[in-house]
Formats: sequence, structure tokens, C-alpha cells
Amino acid sequence: MLSIAIDGPAGSGKSTLAKLLAEELNIEYIDTGAMYRAIALKSINLNKRTYNEIRSMLSDTTIDFINGKIYLDNEDVSDLIRTEEISKLASDISKIDIVRKKLVDIQRNIALRKSVVMEGRDIGTVVLKDADYKFFLTASIEARAKRRYKQLLDNGIDTDLKSIKEEIAKRDYNDENRENSPLIKADDAIFLDNSNMNLEDNLNFMLKVIRGN
Ligand code: C5P
Repeated sequence: MLSIAIDGPAGSGKSTLAKLLAEELNIEYIDTGAMYRAIALKSINLNKRTYNEIRSMLSDTTIDFINGKIYLDNEDVSDLIRTEEISKLASDISKIDIVRKKLVDIQRNIALRKSVVMEGRDIGTVVLKDADYKFFLTASIEARAKRRYKQLLDNGIDTDLKSIKEEIAKRDYNDENRENSPLIKADDAIFLDNSNMNLEDNLNFMLKVIRGN
């Protein structure tokens, strides 16, 4: 079984690269951010906000990945979780210990059953501490905001660069300073600032590390 952990902040290219890497290696791609987003979506839909409400909601929640789509309680929510509102709420809800415990258990179970490229914020430090390969990707906030802006425009979502930059800075702060599993590089992860690197070079770099050539 092969496990590859990719961590980094929003807009660092980790989702795109994890997906490409998984395709190239013919193994499963697991987007853990999508799982936090799915929990955030359910808490909005059911208006569950308090710790106790969230605890009982979690005991009655299933999350699955099938053919690259994420299913919340057997419903495909892949498109519903990509709004700015859910981005913000996912960052807030991911601070809650019982949410992390539930999702980390699911993530570890998936990696026990199959080879994975798993990406998120705490994969190399918490979820898959013994991963075969660990990468920590980042880029300047300007580069990351521009990528996100373009991605949203491409998806037909109207937005502006300044507010994206503010939203990313806020999420960075939240993710890096929370008590539970903050976003940090694992000691044994390979650090890569890809501000001035194109996707292909970044992918080739990672493949070289993995294939050892
Ligand atoms: O990666 P993405 O931006 O979709 O993640 C949404 C939010 O979920 C992040 O801002 C972060 O707060 C949270 N998250 C996390 N741990 C992970 C993946 C995501 O806390 N492993």
C-alpha cells in the first residue's frame, strides 16, 4: 500500500496536483477539505450550531468518495460545497475536536484499505504520520489569490480579487493558529514554494521524488 500526504494552504495547488498525481500513479485521490466542507454544509442545512447539536449530527452522518465525487449521507454534494460561505464555515467547523476525530478516523480507514494521495492541512502531521511521501506546498498570498480568482471565474462564480485575498488571509490565520491540528509542515515533509512554478514542473518534481529518479 502506498500513501502520499500533501498539505498546504488554500490556493497552493495541492488539490490539482494531488488529483494529477493520483491519476499518474493510478491510485485513489482523497480531498479531506471536501469532508470538512460537507460537514459544514450539513450543519447549515440543519441549522446545527452548538457542540452538542454537532455531536449528535455527526453520529448520524456518513461520508463516502465514489469516482471522485463526495457523498454526504448518500447524496452527491460535490458541487454544493464549493461556495465561499462553505469555505468560511468549513474553516470554523474544522476547529471542533469531535469533527476532526470523526473525519480523521474515516481518512485513516480509507488509507488502510487502499493506496492514496491524500491532501489537506494535517495529513503529514496527524492523519498519515507514517506516509511514504510527504509534501508541503505553498505559494505567496498574491499567487494563491490569483489562482483562486481564476478558478472561481472559470466556474462562472462572480467575485473580486481583493475579497478573495482577504478571505484567504483569514483562512490562513484560522488554519495556522487553531489549537487542534494547526496547518504546519511535518518535519519530514518536502517543502515547496510554487509561486513561480508551473503545474507541470511541480508535478514532475513530485513524481521524481516518488519514483526516485
Ligand atoms: O482544502 P479546502 O480549502 O477545501 O478546506 C476547507 C477547510 O477545511 C480549510 O480551510 C480547513 O480549515 C479545513 N481543513 C482542515 N483539515 C484538513 C482539510 C481541510 O482543517 N485536513
